[in-house]
Amino acid sequence: MRASEIRALFSVVSRPEVVSLAGGMPAVTALPLDAVGSMIGDLVSGMGAQTLQYGSGQGDPRLRERICDVMALEGITDASPSEVVVTVGSQQGLDLVTRVFCDPGDVILAEGPSYVGALGVFQAAEARVRHVAMDDAGLVPEALEEALQRCRAAGERVKFLYTVPNFHNPAGVTLSEPRRQAIIELAQRYDLLVIEDNPYGLLGFDHEPMHALRARDAERVIYLGSFSKTFSPGLRVGWVLAPLAVREKLVLATEAQVLCPPSLTQYAVARYLDTQPWREQIKVFTELYRERRDATLESLAALMPAGTTWTHPDGGFYVWLKLPHGLDAKLMQPRAVNAHVAYVPGIGFYADGSGRENMRLSYCYPEPDQIREGVRRLARVIEAELDLHSTFDAVDTGSFRAVAQPARPARGEDTAPLVGPAGNDAAEDPSA
Ligand SMILES: Cc1ncc(COP(=O)(O)O)c(C=O)c1O
Repeated sequence: MRASEIRALFSVVSRPEVVSLAGGMPAVTALPLDAVGSMIGDLVSGMGAQTLQYGSGQGDPRLRERICDVMALEGITDASPSEVVVTVGSQQGLDLVTRVFCDPGDVILAEGPSYVGALGVFQAAEARVRHVAMDDAGLVPEALEEALQRCRAAGERVKFLYTVPNFHNPAGVTLSEPRRQAIIELAQRYDLLVIEDNPYGLLGFDHEPMHALRARDAERVIYLGSFSKTFSPGLRVGWVLAPLAVREKLVLATEAQVLCPPSLTQYAVARYLDTQPWREQIKVFTELYRERRDATLESLAALMPAGTTWTHPDGGFYVWLKLPHGLDAKLMQPRAVNAHVAYVPGIGFYADGSGRENMRLSYCYPEPDQIREGVRRLARVIEAELDLHSTFDAVDTGSFRAVAQPARPARGEDTAPLVGPAGNDAAEDPSA
């Protein structure tokens, strides 16, 4: 196991002078905090005997019913509360599913890039991740089929496909309707299990929630859900929807891990769904995120140097940015932090060292003015990096003879990315 790119950034981005476009923290201050506070107070004073007690390993039955209502918004109308396991965030759901299915050396297919927390779980299980290409319409079915065929030819058994179909973390893109069908057909043809991780599905800006993959196949898709982005990440309540045989194993695994999910927070979520206008609250969140998305995309369009490209999310939290050719987001990071702007380098979202030219920008947490300032700072850092790059290029081609030329490997061997003035960045451990 190793620290994720995001963990390594935590101490830096909490400095007040830094505009952080790094963390994916929901805007919880937009919640009706007084109402939530008195609701939780009432749960303790009125129902302490249950809310402060151990509960069932599978989770509170009332909450599991309400979870089925939530999933119906994404076309999952046949789910039974008996197929739901409540988890400590969907992160625990991911961990449970991986523990139940994977042995060391097993192959997992996942989008490239992929959610960093999932890669951490897969790595801890010693599974091997093979990335599958995605584009603006999400995972590419042809690339999935190629990956399945390659694995078959190599005698590798693929345990599952891990996918985030809506407002992808970190790519910001959403799987198109035709591709949803194509991926389910491939899963059926190749006997493939699909893990659908969907914490952002209800946070669309422009259209009704799309139908989940699970709505198309109840046997082949295990669905992970979460209240972290639609209510509160601090309560740590998520869930897994799985066929009964799998659900049984998941409950055994969760009992071994935590005995049962926390009672108080489960009751809090169930009470919130029962008594508060949660659908309206989701609209409050999406309006706020839409405004922040707009600030991000407008600033990027106005300020980024030529050669920089980025995705255009219509929901969720993230923009995935590609730097002009040859720049390295990881090597550039110290310069960006010096300029008081933070992002997450793309390399953390791949299991195979790809993503050096990419970065994830999160617009969920900073105010629009901070976002504009952050993008302005970032654009300057990229411009300075491009200047350096062209200077070093000139040295490399011999057209900039005023600078002493150190002994360099012969051309052709010199494939390392160009580095900034500190020079020693190239020795930095990318896994730090
Ligand atoms: C794609 C994805 N899956 C899972 C999680 C974990 O969420 P939770 O807070 O429910 O554990 C996150 C959190 O950012 C995420 O982006």
